[in-house]
Amino acid sequence: MHDVPQLPFDAAIAAIKAQVPERLQSPRVGIVCGSGLGGIVNSIQDLHLVQYNTIPGFAESTVPGHKSSLAFGTMGGVPVVAMLGRFHPYEGHPLRVVVYPIRVMARLGIANLILTNAAGGLNPKLAVGTIVALHDHLALPNMTGMNALLGPLTSPTHQRFIPLSDAYSPGLRRLLFLGAHHLGLDPDAVTEGTYAWVSGPTYESPAEGRFLRLVGADVVGMSTVPEVLAAREEGLDVMALSLVTNAVVIPETYRDIRAEVAAELAGKPVDLPPAQVVSHEEVLEIGKAKGEVMMKLVEYVVSAIP
Ligand code: HPA
Repeated sequence: MHDVPQLPFDAAIAAIKAQVPERLQSPRVGIVCGSGLGGIVNSIQDLHLVQYNTIPGFAESTVPGHKSSLAFGTMGGVPVVAMLGRFHPYEGHPLRVVVYPIRVMARLGIANLILTNAAGGLNPKLAVGTIVALHDHLALPNMTGMNALLGPLTSPTHQRFIPLSDAYSPGLRRLLFLGAHHLGLDPDAVTEGTYAWVSGPTYESPAEGRFLRLVGADVVGMSTVPEVLAAREEGLDVMALSLVTNAVVIPETYRDIRAEVAAELAGKPVDLPPAQVVSHEEVLEIGKAKGEVMMKLVEYVVSAIP
């Protein structure tokens, strides 16, 4: 049998408890804020921040739009902890580091985890700004040796084999849609879909985007799935929300350079529109513009959890 690896859980919990008043030390809900969605912190009352660099085992988030602190406080009277900044494999963090904060939050006592992220829209019906509650995921890295749960168990009470057919809590999604109704949101503003997880940091090539759409994904992003796996192993109920920050460009045809050269040689050059490319700035901008709706929905769900 493998030994349980020595992740510094006890030291992490002690460091957190030394910085947070007792009334906030046992949050019920954990929240992970995606790119540009850190504004969720503004709806936390009685706020106490704990910097990642003071918690043993935590890394630093290196991505613009991600801070590096845990926010403790209350939301609608419910004690919560929010990660302002998450870790991604593309930053060079091993998967066990990426999911370590989820395991620490579980050991602080959260029973529910709400993850948010910025994602590219693959389904042409999804307008930029739509919020997609994940009902499934497609994780090619999981299927090819990049599963966050590979390796020795981190607790003797964990199950070795984790089912994923029920990974995304129907109960939490029900609260989300009740929230969308009570907030008077447009019926198209919030929907459900399947998330494709890719490692990044490159955005999808046209062929990759086409492939992911063909195999049934609605949105694509570079986070969340490792955290979902760890959360399910820890026994947490999970909801994950993607904000569509850009449409993934899936051209039906490629530029025909041979024909363009032939036209040029014949004295009839073709006038082409500029190529569409996605940028992190665009992702952050939409996050800022639409983050408010995400924040209100998260607030509603947190307050409504029984
Ligand atoms: N692809 C992958 N990840 C993303 C995208 C995208 O288009 N937009 C925001 N995160």
